[in-house]
Amino acid sequence: MAHKYSELPAEDKLDTEPLEIPAKRSVWARISLFVLSPLLLVTSILVVAGIANVISGRPALSQLTWFSHAPRASDGQFLLGVGKADITGPVVEVEFMGYASLGQIGTGLRQRIYSRAFIIGDPNNDDDRIVYLVLDSAMGDIAVRNGILEGLAALGSDYAVYGQSNVAVTGTHQHSGPGAWLNYLLPQITSLGFSTASYQAIVDGAVLSIQRAHESLTLGTLAYADTNITGSIDANINRSPYAYLANPADERAQYEYDVDKGLTMLRFQRASDGLNMGVLAWHAVHGTSMLENNTHVTGDNKGVTSYLFEQAALTDPTAAPGFVAGFSQANVGDTSPNILGAWCDDGSGEMCTFENSTCAGQTETCHGRGPEFQKLDLGVSSCYEIGRRVFVGAQALYNSFDSVSTPVTDSSVKSYHTFQDMSFYEFPLPNGTQVQTCPAALGYGFAGGTTDGPGAFDFVQGDNNTQPQNPFWELVSDLLTTPTPEQVACQSPKPILLDIGQMSVPYAWGPNIVDIQSLRVGQLIMIISPSEATTMTGRRWRDAVAAAAVSKSITTTTPKVVLGGPANTYAHYAATPEEYGIQRYEGASTLFGPWESYAYIYLSTSNIQYLASGSTSQPAAGPTPPDNRNASASFSLIQKNVVVFDNPPIGNSFGQCTTQPNPSYSVGDVINATFVGANPRNNFRLEGTFTAIEMLVNGAWTQVRDDNDWSLVYTWTRTNTILGYSSVVISWETESYTQPGTYRTVYYGDSKTPVIGSIKSFVGYSGSYIIG
Ligand SMILES: *[C@@H]1O[C@H](CO)[C@@H](O)[C@H](O)[C@H]1NC(C)=O
Ligand SMILES: *[C@@H]1O[C@H](CO)[C@@H](O)[C@H](O)[C@H]1NC(C)=O
Ligand SMILES: *[C@@H]1O[C@H](CO)[C@@H](O)[C@H](O)[C@H]1NC(C)=O
Ligand SMILES: *[C@@H]1O[C@H](CO)[C@@H](O)[C@H](O)[C@H]1NC(C)=O
Ligand SMILES: *[C@@H]1O[C@H](CO)[C@@H](O)[C@H](O)[C@H]1NC(C)=O
Ligand SMILES: *[C@@H]1O[C@H](CO)[C@@H](O)[C@H](O)[C@H]1NC(C)=O
Ligand SMILES: *[C@@H]1O[C@H](CO)[C@@H](O)[C@H](O)[C@H]1NC(C)=O
Repeated sequence: MAHKYSELPAEDKLDTEPLEIPAKRSVWARISLFVLSPLLLVTSILVVAGIANVISGRPALSQLTWFSHAPRASDGQFLLGVGKADITGPVVEVEFMGYASLGQIGTGLRQRIYSRAFIIGDPNNDDDRIVYLVLDSAMGDIAVRNGILEGLAALGSDYAVYGQSNVAVTGTHQHSGPGAWLNYLLPQITSLGFSTASYQAIVDGAVLSIQRAHESLTLGTLAYADTNITGSIDANINRSPYAYLANPADERAQYEYDVDKGLTMLRFQRASDGLNMGVLAWHAVHGTSMLENNTHVTGDNKGVTSYLFEQAALTDPTAAPGFVAGFSQANVGDTSPNILGAWCDDGSGEMCTFENSTCAGQTETCHGRGPEFQKLDLGVSSCYEIGRRVFVGAQALYNSFDSVSTPVTDSSVKSYHTFQDMSFYEFPLPNGTQVQTCPAALGYGFAGGTTDGPGAFDFVQGDNNTQPQNPFWELVSDLLTTPTPEQVACQSPKPILLDIGQMSVPYAWGPNIVDIQSLRVGQLIMIISPSEATTMTGRRWRDAVAAAAVSKSITTTTPKVVLGGPANTYAHYAATPEEYGIQRYEGASTLFGPWESYAYIYLSTSNIQYLASGSTSQPAAGPTPPDNRNASASFSLIQKNVVVFDNPPIGNSFGQCTTQPNPSYSVGDVINATFVGANPRNNFRLEGTFTAIEMLVNGAWTQVRDDNDWSLVYTWTRTNTILGYSSVVISWETESYTQPGTYRTVYYGDSKTPVIGSIKSFVGYSGSYIIG
């Protein structure tokens, strides 16, 4: 049972675990106060009055603290909370989300995925809070966002402060997590439907992370700082430079690079002991280091960066227990982690064409190369390397934070949210010309994919050819209504392949209604983007919001603007009008036509007064987007939501180790153990683990690795569908820092009994082995 910060006895407000202590102390306080002295008696009456106040409403901290010896929140102090929870849904028999590749079906787990929640509140006003969620998922989307808002509402009045206006659901844009949880039909087609189990794991974990953040609320300070991830730790390139070059030369000349190399970090430091509770950072790089042919769940490069940062915090004396490091996606649209560029894997030794990323006219053999591409390990080494580079830059910034950071100086916390229908929405450009956005549609270049994950079937980027090219997409395309002449004109010069915004059979295929949301904490403004803004779109958007914040006096000092996304409702891309004209993947996936990016900018700037310190209102709610969750769940006949049953082969038992590790290994070896398995969908073991490495320490087996560790890989294989047999291989890629010693590999599984269908847990152990 959580408490509002302002309901806590004053001396508990700075404690790390406000949940446990207040009950004890308030009882003690009430008893002792009554027996001690008349002065304290007066105080105790005030305490009782305070409690009555709490029951009747939500008093601000300022109303309760004047009688106490606790410091009053001073300017520049905030209520801060951080929390993290597991969102790893089904890791097998589910299509992964991101590459829209039907063949990318999960076979196991390399790294659990998490929701990281950051709460910031105005200590003098309990109504002013924001929640910034960073999900290790391909995107935020409205199905899970609705689920999260419902989950928060179900937690009761303590959580009533969190809702539509102040909860931002962003995804890291990784491409190696379970899919089948999105609201609209198009992404469901490429995930074979909607999996309630996959959806629920994300919703439940996100809500739990918010609960944990809420329960950790304490007074503290915020500061931000910037660094560039470049040089020897360079981690991103532009994957569509041909489109970027269409932006005006004088505008491009203002920037050294054709992607943003900057990383902005916000540090959460609590007042009680000066320890850091966590960091929330923004940096733009696609979560496409793990390749399209990888089938193990990971958090991609941002998952690695968070993992390394949180591991380092375990031994950092300035980090509080439970330190959370969230690495949020920024203007990711045209960025790639495949920093060696895109090459033809056809033996020609050539790079793909600059204009359309083809090799001999085809996209299929054109692949972006990460720094460790030659390892041929499905992107694992490149992913770790990109994540490590961002970590190195972030860690250096963190270590010099006190000397380079800027404090967030006023305690004002504001947010707004409204839904906007982008179908034929008219608005003025900055020069006053009226233009409009269009119902959602994808161009032919969308089906070409990108150099991070090329499309199939001969579609190419930068293509404006509307002739039939491929039977699959043509079939899908034929299911759609023919775009109206008005839509064709509106979307021009995009040739429309999928007119998703004008099709709603059996339910809506794509979003026309998007979330317009921004958050403000002091001088820091966070734009929450539903679309993947390209580099130049992000720059224009941030600059315009900063200028509007200055002209409307929203902040008391120079505003600092960051952009996070894709968030809230996944709305594909937002290219500039110039890039749109090129119709590479990003332009072809800019759903709402050539002026989409300017519509976002207009909506952000024209609503900015809702971020003003005195603002107590919200824009009109706007139209409610369709909620397809129920329809999807019943429509998704193909999506496997149930395991039939599990059996061990005759003569074996679940968890039995059938292929033992060798007796001894060297550091750096891969240590495999094979077990009689059961389907991991029987129990996701959220907050737990399928795998562990135990070390013999003073005669006792001690767990030293689990599912969270990048180096420990779980692979499940169904070996006999009819009889229900399966096997599990646990591979430990021993790290350079592995200590010599005696170890064993442990497998935690859950089997489903035939007929009865009950689920039983089991544990399997390998024999011991020595690492010398
Ligand atoms: C990052 O690089 C840009 C030039 O690309 C430079 O203007 C800026 O000052 C650098 N920022 C930091 C924190 O070094
Ligand atoms: C995975 O895809 C990459 C291209 O992205 C390719 O080079 C590699 O050979 C593939 N690996 C396997 C095992 O198919
Ligand atoms: C791709 O661009 C090249 C020029 O680099 C051009 O020769 C080729 O025709 C284009 N291919 C397609 C399919 O548009
Ligand atoms: C306003 O800007 C748009 C986009 O750059 C341009 O197409 C239009 O001609 C401009 N209108 C005026 C009146 O300058
Ligand atoms: C495609 O675009 C090019 C350049 O804008 C133009 O010359 C060509 O006519 C267009 N082709 C079609 C089929 O629209
Ligand atoms: C979905 O189904 C649940 C349970 O049947 C019901 O409570 C809920 O109102 C439905 N939601 C919508 C949007 O139809
Ligand atoms: C270990 O198991 C993994 C996953 O099944 C497999 O890819 C790899 O080849 C195995 N390695 C060894 C050394 O057996």
